[in-house]
Amino acid sequence: MELIHPTVSTYLNQLAYHGHPVLTEMEARAQAEGFPIVGPVVGRICYQIARMIGARRVFELGSGFGYSTFWFARAVAENGGGEVHHTVWDEALSRDARDYLRRAGLDHIVRFHVGEAVAALQEARGSFDLIFNDIVKRQYPASLAVIKEKLRVGGVLIVDNMLWNGRIFDEHDASEATQGVREATRQLFTDKDFIATLLPVHDGLVVALRV
Ligand SMILES: C[S@@+](CC[C@H](N)C(=O)[O-])C[C@H]1O[C@@H](n2cnc3c(N)ncnc32)[C@H](O)[C@@H]1O
Repeated sequence: MELIHPTVSTYLNQLAYHGHPVLTEMEARAQAEGFPIVGPVVGRICYQIARMIGARRVFELGSGFGYSTFWFARAVAENGGGEVHHTVWDEALSRDARDYLRRAGLDHIVRFHVGEAVAALQEARGSFDLIFNDIVKRQYPASLAVIKEKLRVGGVLIVDNMLWNGRIFDEHDASEATQGVREATRQLFTDKDFIATLLPVHDGLVVALRV
C-alpha cells in the first residue's frame, strides 16, 4: 500500500539528503538485502528530536545493523556525549553495527547488547531520555510497560511502523503483528502518562512525550 504520495516521498528524501559515506553504505545494503531500516527521513527526525531534548541516554529496541543507532549516536555526541544502547538478538548484525559505527567515529557512544531487547531494557541501569522501539510488532503492547518504567518524565518514546504498511486498516488482518500495532497504538493514545502523535512519514512514526 502506497502510504505517502510518491512526489512527497521523493521530496522528503531529497530534503533529508545527508551525504555521509557510512550511512550511504548502510542504505545501499538495506536496499540490496530488503532489510527494514528506518531510512533517512525518519533517521533525521530521530536525530532532531534527540537534539531538541538534549538526549544523553538513549535506548533502542531492535537495532539491526545500526542505521538508526547512527542517528541517535550522532545526536548524543553533539549533545555533549552519553550513551546509546544498541540491541539485537543476532550476533552477526551486532558485529556489523560495531563496524559501521566504528568507521563513523561513533562507537564510543554505543553500548552493544546481543539478546532480547525488552529484557535488556529491563536490566539496564537508570532511566532514559529517549527510547526507540522497532522490535517485532507482536511484542509492541507488552514492551510498553517496561518502556514506561524506564523513560524519564519529559523523555520521548519513538515507535516505528505504526501504520504497518496499511495492514492496520484491513479488517480481515488479525495477525499477531497487526494486532500488536493496533493495541500499542490504542494504549499510547489512551494512557494519561503519554502525549502521543502519529506522524504519517515512512511507515508511520509515533512520537510520544512521557508526562
Ligand atoms: C526493523 S529492524 C531494525 C532496524 C533499525 N531500527 C534501523 O533502522 O536500522 C529490527 C531488528 O531487530 C531485531 N529484533 C526484533 N525484535 C527483537 C527483539 N525483541 N529483541 C532483539 N532483537 C529484535 C530483528 O531481528 C531486526 O534485526
